[in-house]
Parts: sequence; C-alpha cells; structure tokens
Amino acid sequence: MKKILVAYWSGTGNTETMAQQVAKGAGDGGAEVTLQSVEKVTPDMVKAAEALAFGCPAMGDEALEETEMEPFIGRLSQAELGGKPLALFGSYDWGDGQWMKSWAERMKGLGASVEGEGLITQLVPDQDACSKCYELGKKLAG
Ligand SMILES: Cc1cc2nc3c(=O)[nH]c(=O)nc-3n(C[C@H](O)[C@H](O)[C@H](O)COP(=O)(O)O)c2cc1C
Repeated sequence: MKKILVAYWSGTGNTETMAQQVAKGAGDGGAEVTLQSVEKVTPDMVKAAEALAFGCPAMGDEALEETEMEPFIGRLSQAELGGKPLALFGSYDWGDGQWMKSWAERMKGLGASVEGEGLITQLVPDQDACSKCYELGKKLAG
C-alpha cells in the first residue's frame, strides 16, 4: 500500500476542508493515508511517505503561513523530497495565486515531482473544488 502524507496549515478551515478531500481521494485510491496538521508532522513522517500533499493558504503578502508552514517547508531537503510525487493545494482570497506559483517552483527546486501547478481555491471550497481535491488525492495514490 502506498504511503501518503497529507500535511496542512489552515487558519479558518478552508485549506483544512481541501486537505480532508485530498486525503479521502487518496484513501479511496487505495493508499495508506496520514492526514496531519503541519505542526505535528515530524521529519520521519515525511521520509516514510512515498507521496506527499501539502496545503497552505496564501498568507502575508503572497507567502506561506510564517509560524508553522514556512519553517516546515524551509527544513525540507532534497533527500526527503527528491523524486517524490507532491501535490500542493491551498485557499486564497484577493490575490492571483502567486504564492502557489512560488511554492511550486521552490519544491521543484528540491527535486519534488509537483503535480500540475498546485490546486488553488478562492475562500471556501465549493463542491467543484472539493471534487478537484478528491481527484488530486486519487491521482497521488495511483
Ligand atoms: C493574515 C492574512 C494574510 C492573507 N494574505 C493573502 C494574500 O497575500 N493573498 C490572498 O490571495 N489571500 C490572502 N489571505 C486570504 C486567505 O488566503 C484566505 O482567507 C484563505 O481562504 C484562508 O484559508 P484557511 O481557511 O485555510 O486559513 C490572507 C488572509 C490572512 C488572514
């Protein structure tokens, strides 16, 4: 069974909803899924996963959330990420998705195999956005 880690940060629950859908899709796709808020994720959990999904909303000025997600991402190394399928997702509001573009480039720079360009949703994920998250998780499991 493919081990997938879904790690996320969410302030008001929008990215958390996306994370739950990604995890559901991955589970239905046959993977062994760990869904965890990022502050509880250890380096060993990242190492043990064969595929990864990270979620974070646009914060600051088109940046990752600074107290938990940014340090977590900053600690990741090529050894942990290299060659692994990685799905990125998150909610935003008024921006143009620049935080996600920068994040995806950063992760590619560490050798991760990023799925698409990252899945972004404005504010609360509607049914269509939830389906896209679910399908993303399923693809990661496949
Ligand atoms: C402090 C703060 C900074 C934000 N910065 C941005 C931003 O730069 N660009 C943007 O599109 N949305 C920004 N937002 C909006 C959030 O990304 C949006 O509300 C999102 O749905 C929050 O997701 P969550 O419910 O997972 O926390 C910001 C929100 C807050 C509270």
